[in-house]
Amino acid sequence: MDGAPSHPIQAKSTEAITAPMSFTLAHFSDVHLGPVGVSDVFSDFRLKRIIGGLSWRFRRRGLHINAHADGLRADILARKPDHICFTGDLANIASRAEFRRGLSWLETFGDAAHVTMVPGNHDAYVKAAHETGLGLFNAFMQGDGVPSPHPFPFVRLRRNVAIIGLSSAVPQSLRRAGGTLGSEQRAALAAKLAELGGRGFYRAVMIHHPPLPGLTRPRKALTDAPELAEVLRTGGAELVIHGHNHKTMVNRLETAGGVAHVVCVPSASMVDRDGHESAQWHAYTISRSRGQWQTRMTVHRIDSGTGRFGESRSGILGEDF
Ligand SMILES: [Fe+2]
Ligand SMILES: [Fe+2]
Repeated sequence: MDGAPSHPIQAKSTEAITAPMSFTLAHFSDVHLGPVGVSDVFSDFRLKRIIGGLSWRFRRRGLHINAHADGLRADILARKPDHICFTGDLANIASRAEFRRGLSWLETFGDAAHVTMVPGNHDAYVKAAHETGLGLFNAFMQGDGVPSPHPFPFVRLRRNVAIIGLSSAVPQSLRRAGGTLGSEQRAALAAKLAELGGRGFYRAVMIHHPPLPGLTRPRKALTDAPELAEVLRTGGAELVIHGHNHKTMVNRLETAGGVAHVVCVPSASMVDRDGHESAQWHAYTISRSRGQWQTRMTVHRIDSGTGRFGESRSGILGEDF
């Protein structure tokens, strides 16, 4: 590792790149913690919650296993990453009981200063009261310093790494599972990417939905993915991590500052069945080599035979993935 490179990135200050570093981010997503009970559906009645409750009972209940998510958490904590990133879908139908249960579960990862969350579409399944819903997770979804009244995008600086959190979670109509950032959030993101890039930070962007067009079906897509892709292309980012698709996806986006690696992690609780990818998390070890950022991705997957997590693949983004 060369934390004080002799050839710093051109046109960038050395504020962020002179400190020695190797930094490891753990990323997981789409926990879909169960169960969804009758009281979850009817305590605050919405038609969409009935549909979501039935979907959980007849389909999702057999696919998402809490014990897998618990095993994933134990494996992440045992590896002692520098920071933990969670890209949403903690809940299923965004009931109050799910949020309370989800908060208790997420808090066991440790202090919110070491754990960053952005919400998923299932965390905004219906329009719900902020104080008893996503507001419970504010400590995990705010930037450094004074909390902003417009929390997204937020920025957390951890050594040479800037973690940038976006919210694509907007309540959708009955059959839709999409998301939207909106023009204000995109404009604020563009400004932050430019500023952080100029200061030499490694920019790790977190979003629930796939950030590029064509990565999922239209009814599940980010409505402004083309515009977001343009912001990323112009402003630059080193890594964009997301969930939502419940499968491993590695894409590249050419940006003004080099390649942005765009990676989807499968669900944290999924079983290995019917073509689904079993529970998985990713570790990103970020370092500098010859004045360039280098990101090693290590896949940690549950072994459906033993029920234990282990490394299944490791390599450099852009070379091996
Ligand atoms: Fe999901
Ligand atoms: Fe999702």
